[in-house]
Amino acid sequence: MKFSHEWIEKNPWLLIGLTVAVVSVGGLTEIVPLFFQKSTTEAVAGLKPYSPLRLAGRDIYVREGCYNCHSQMIRPFRAETERYGHYSVAGEFVYDRPFQWGSKRTGPDLARVGGRYSDEWHRVHLNNPRDVVPESNMPGYPWLEKTKLNPQAITANMRALQRLGDPYTDEEIAKAPKELEGKTEQDALIAYLQEMGTQIKTKR
Ligand code: HEC
Repeated sequence: MKFSHEWIEKNPWLLIGLTVAVVSVGGLTEIVPLFFQKSTTEAVAGLKPYSPLRLAGRDIYVREGCYNCHSQMIRPFRAETERYGHYSVAGEFVYDRPFQWGSKRTGPDLARVGGRYSDEWHRVHLNNPRDVVPESNMPGYPWLEKTKLNPQAITANMRALQRLGDPYTDEEIAKAPKELEGKTEQDALIAYLQEMGTQIKTKR
């Protein structure tokens, strides 16, 4: 049979294959270069992988679904930078697996919340947000204060990240459980929040 348009249209699998090939060209030309571009693959100066306590806190952030109401991505618009601080840059997130950018903002963006409040404010706020922000509709997370971390669990977590390229040394991993001893889930979450976005914080 002659290679013609009609022939392609009468072969559904061939048509699907060719359609997928054509449609992916646009996507691939946009996405593939990002894997090789320095500004998206290299950490901003001074960025360190998460310390064990902050890493544990990050896991709790993910487990509790904080991302359902909070983004971690400040867009480069005046209305955003005036409110939250310097817009987010790709190099800040190279150790975030998976990233928590999000798009739903029932509450404020948290990308630069680090250092904005005291640890004590966060304690009260996480137990019952209405004690500090009367009109808040954020749920309370009072169990975090009563639940101790499992110090041993962090080792496997850090090993996995090390395998993916995070520059943890074996010594750091061996010492990690000690840092978590006696700490609550709330301590870890607050440690995570308090460092958030502080790497390139300039002004608010
Ligand atoms: C149902 C939506 C919702 C969920 C889920 C939620 N929050 Fe919130 N959050 C809000 C709202 C609304 C505010 C603004 C009012 C306030 O400060 O309580 C807020 C405020 C905050 C603030 C203060 C931000 C600022 O700049 O003033 C922090 C920190 C915060 N949330 C952390 C968390 C963490 C951590 C979790 C998960 C354990 C979480 N939130 C889950 C809705 C939510």
